Amino acid sequence: MTTANRPPIFAILAIQAVVFGGLYLAMPTVNALVGYGVPLFWQMSAQGLIAATVTKYFKFGWGWVIGQCVAPPLVILALGLGLPMWIYPVILILLVLVFWNVASNRVPLYLTNTETSAALLKLLPNKKSIRFVDLGSGLGGTLRYLASRSPESRFYGVESAPLPFIFSWCLRKLHGKDNLEFRFRDIWKEDLSEFDVVYCFLSPVPMARLFAKAQEELKPGSLFISNSFAVPDQKPDKIITVKDGRKTQLLIWKI
Ligand SMILES: C[S@@+](CC[C@H](N)C(=O)[O-])C[C@H]1O[C@@H](n2cnc3c(N)ncnc32)[C@H](O)[C@@H]1O
Repeated sequence: MTTANRPPIFAILAIQAVVFGGLYLAMPTVNALVGYGVPLFWQMSAQGLIAATVTKYFKFGWGWVIGQCVAPPLVILALGLGLPMWIYPVILILLVLVFWNVASNRVPLYLTNTETSAALLKLLPNKKSIRFVDLGSGLGGTLRYLASRSPESRFYGVESAPLPFIFSWCLRKLHGKDNLEFRFRDIWKEDLSEFDVVYCFLSPVPMARLFAKAQEELKPGSLFISNSFAVPDQKPDKIITVKDGRKTQLLIWKI
């Protein structure tokens, strides 16, 4: 793994640890200067501010910077609520099971909106029955939308985060859709040659590698559609701007 690909979570935790160490050493002097013991909440607020500044200095995105700033005081506030101690590891485990791919693949969970799903429906080739895959299918909403409106086609979701996968699998069972299937699998292990349309909404990080995989495996004439994220040095054949609040762009390549 190159430095550029290394999951940022380790650097983020390292920044908090170094700032914590520095503050721990500095606190006796600070307390002596101000003449009283600085309350823990303010110490942790200072920890958050310094960690956020260092994080920005190292050119991390604003999401990480804000997270670094608010996490330490939030931990102190949460401890002050007097909740039973088992709740914290349970919350942590649930978060890990949902955001499974943030640390390893740098892809969080956010969802395709209905306007974009409707635009995808219009893009489906006029072939009677097509095979469509959503790589990193999240909660499966896009596929449920498409599967119920295009019953002659088959829709596949590939997801490796345990909780989103279980959620989409259970909903599929409840709705009993025959043309919809979810696979608990890493997208890099999925053979793309069986699909006519590949859709993804991931992050900038995997796009170059994923496009190379699509070029290698997809049949000529298949579509590769990326929601929002460009492929470096690869101009899309078509760009569709969706009429939603964030003016979502669907970048489309014909293989
Ligand atoms: C931004 S969400 C998009 C969810 C869904 N496609 C949608 O548009 O609503 C990206 C999803 O990709 C999943 N993901 C990221 N890397 C993956 C990988 N290597 N294998 C399988 N799923 C992955 C994440 O767990 C997350 O659920």
